This record gives sequence, structure tokens and C-alpha cells, in this order.
Amino acid sequence: MIEKGVEIKQPKGKLGILLPGLGAVATTLIAGVYLIRKGEAKPIGSLTQIGTIRLGKRTDNRVPLIKDFVQLADINDIVFGGWDIFPDNAYESALNAGVLKKEDIDKVKKELEAIKPMKAVFDPQYVKRLDGPNKKTGKNKMELAEQLMDDMKSFKEKNKLDRIVIVWTGSTETYLEYDHVWDTIESFEKGMRENHPAISSSMLYAYAALKMGIPYVNGAPHMSHDMPALDSLAKTMKVPIAGKDFKTGQTFMKTLLAPGFKARMLGVRGWFSTNILGNRDGEVLDEPLSFRSKEITKSSALDYIFQPDKYPDLYKDLYHKVRINYYPPLGDNKEGWDNIDIFGWLDYPMQIKVNFLCRDSILAAPVVLDLALFIDLAQRAGMYGIQEWLSFYLKSPMVAPGLYPEHDLFIQLMKLKNTLRYLKGEDLITHLGLDYYD
Ligand SMILES: NC(=O)c1ccc[n+]([C@@H]2O[C@H](COP(=O)([O-])OP(=O)(O)OC[C@H]3O[C@@H](n4cnc5c(N)ncnc54)[C@H](O)[C@@H]3O)[C@@H](O)[C@H]2O)c1
Repeated sequence: MIEKGVEIKQPKGKLGILLPGLGAVATTLIAGVYLIRKGEAKPIGSLTQIGTIRLGKRTDNRVPLIKDFVQLADINDIVFGGWDIFPDNAYESALNAGVLKKEDIDKVKKELEAIKPMKAVFDPQYVKRLDGPNKKTGKNKMELAEQLMDDMKSFKEKNKLDRIVIVWTGSTETYLEYDHVWDTIESFEKGMRENHPAISSSMLYAYAALKMGIPYVNGAPHMSHDMPALDSLAKTMKVPIAGKDFKTGQTFMKTLLAPGFKARMLGVRGWFSTNILGNRDGEVLDEPLSFRSKEITKSSALDYIFQPDKYPDLYKDLYHKVRINYYPPLGDNKEGWDNIDIFGWLDYPMQIKVNFLCRDSILAAPVVLDLALFIDLAQRAGMYGIQEWLSFYLKSPMVAPGLYPEHDLFIQLMKLKNTLRYLKGEDLITHLGLDYYD
């Protein structure tokens, strides 16, 4: 939702990016940003840093960098912080994660060592394969959320920040069935005071952020703030929110390929996706209830792209299966296989095999950076509630009640860029091509 006539406030001063969960994704992001600042690396994969946007007609030749076109926070003005159940600083955690080479991590050792995780709000009930010592205690969930608010306040004061955004980079929590405690902010707050089991740790971070007027993005597939109570709190507090689940790896590939098949009216009979990964995320997802959260976000994309109700001849019988297997020897280097059974003219079958040897956190880090910078822009532009234009980065985009999510990567990109054009009062690009009728 946009408030008409609101100008975009300049990104003056420093921007704090707080990350609940200082694991593989978070430390790959932080180390990367410091390496880029030192001129040791380039921000490959980041639309906010190297992407451009076309303005006006193709003949106008106006194609600025996105970061020059809209007033994004400068990468040099970011201050990182976070929470984790393990007390390791970001240097130790980056070494543990095993994503980046030690020689790269060592180049920013001093900066990483300075980032020490604050005590986390954590209950192993929601992440069954994990536990650690760096945790807060409190008599109920409301009290824990208040401690998180104190952390946010003192982080801002201590670092003399102008603004903060929060992106969840913590583990995936178990799947929870809808509970009426999520209906309204009143029922939710009552539930917090009564330690209601349907209020998970990540929900407390989201609640605390929104209460403090801090934009919040959920990078994991669990519920978090994707519920009426916290959606309405975001609106009341006029805070932008987005989620869920960073779109990287296999789902990224799916949302590239599926729109192509559909555009050419090719049918799909089966899509089997399996992958092996050996990092801590893989270990957490090895637990059936955490996997259930992931399975739901991973499975829905194809249904929405293919619209089997509109194209029954092509997609009605699609058999879609997703498997994630924990396989420690691979570490963060995930390997994914897709077998896609498609059919074309006269029903003749064809097969496509995709073997993606990807690096999860390398794909995720620029996504987190872009989400953080864009959600900060949203707040400075007076936008609040669910930011659908950020669906581009998310596997299971949150949408307003009654709407269906857009999963097609290219429509998502168009939506994102048109939102930026709209914010700056530029013509939206329709690709209509009616030049002959002038
Ligand atoms: N890497 C990707 O491509 C990708 C894509 C989509 C989603 N994700 C999601 O991003 C998240 C992070 O992934 P990762 O590979 O960095 O995992 P990771 O296991 O390396 O890091 C997660 C960290 O969160 C911490 N943590 C767990 N619960 C916490 C809590 N309540 N408070 C504070 N810290 C907590 C853990 O101790 C751990 O250090 C996961 O939920 C994952 O599913 C990752």
C-alpha cells in the first residue's frame, strides 16, 4: 500500500541490518559485503548493486543503475548485527559454515570478529535438531519479545544508526497448523503472555520488530509473520514486511523453466526434484516437521505458474515430488537433480534433466542484501504491509488475503522494476510496441 504524495526520504546516516541466525547465509553475506567494501570482490548476483533499469522509450537511452535511480542505502553505510544460540562470533561462524575459503574470510577477520551474536530467543520445540547455550530466559513469551526490543534499541543507540531492518536468516522452524491465536493482535498478545504453543520463537522476533517500527523479512519457509495478527500490526505501525523463504537453488530454476514451458503451451506430466546437502540447514530440514515447512513453500510454485484449472490438458495430471536429503559430505555445496517429463505436439513425450551443482549461501547472500536495501527503501517511501514487489526474491511470496502469489520470475522482475518506476514518477514499461500508430 502506498500513501500518495509521500516523497522518498533520503537514506541519511547508517543502516543497521539485524539478522536472527548468524549461520551460513548470514556470514556469507556479511563477509561478502566487507570484501566488496575493501575492493576485494564484486557484488555478483545483487540487483541493487549492479542491476540497471530502463526508463522511457528504448530510443531514449536512459538506463541508470538501480542504486543510482532510487535512493538506496550505500553498502558502506551498513552495520551488521544479529542473534544466535551459539556464542561464536561471525568469523568463527563463517569458518564453521565452510562456505567461503579461509583465505577470503581472513581478509575481513577483524570486522567479522567484532560481530558477536546477542542472546537468542529459542525453544527447541520449534527446531528439533538444534540447541545451544546463548539463549534468553524469561517468564513468558511477551517478556522474551520485550528483551528483543531492548536489543534492537540498544543496537541502534550503540552504533548511532539512523534506521534498522531485520531479515530472518535463522533455522527453519517446524510446520504449525493454523491456530486462532494468530487471528488478531489481541489474541496474539494474550497468547504470548500465556506461553501459547502456537507462538514460535521467530514470531517473537517479528512481533518485536513490528512493535519497534522496524521492517521485517522472513527468509525461511516457516509461518513467522504470515498471519492476520502480525499483518495487521504491520499496517497499524506502518511497517513494510515481506517473506517467505529465499528463492535460490532448485525453486529458482523451477520458476525460470516453468514459465517457458507454459509460454509455449507445452504440457508437463511429471516433475521430480531431489537434492542432497550437508550443511546445518540440511540437518534441520532432515527433521520431518521442519521439512514439512519447506515442502509446502517448494511445492506451491508450480501450481501457481501452471494454473492447471485454466490449462487442464497441459497440467491437470502433473505429478510433482520434492525430496531433500541430508548428506554431510557435501557441506554447503548442494547438488540438485530435476527430472521433468514434458509433452508437446500430438502428445509426444520429451524429457529434460537438470543437474544443478549449486552453492546455497552464495546464491542467498545477494538476495538478503537486496531484500534488506529494498525493504528500507519501502519504509522511506511510506510503503507498509506486505511488499509484493519483493516476491522476486521469495519462494513462497506473502500476499494480501484473497490474492494468489505470483511465482513467474519474469513477471516478478517486471513488478519490481515497475514499482521503482512508479515510486520515481517514471512511465511504467508495458513492452506494448505500438510505435507504428503514433
Ligand atoms: N541458503 C539458501 O539458499 C536458503 C534458501 C532459502 C531459505 N534459506 C533459509 O535460510 C535460513 C538460514 O540458512 P543457513 O544455511 O544459513 O542455515 P544455518 O543453519 O547455517 O544458520 C542458521 C542459524 O540460525 C541459528 N538459529 C536457529 N534458531 C534461532 C533463533 N531462534 N534465534 C537466533 N538464531 C537461531 C542457528 O543456530 C544457526 O546458526 C534457513 O531457515 C534456510 O532454510 C536458505
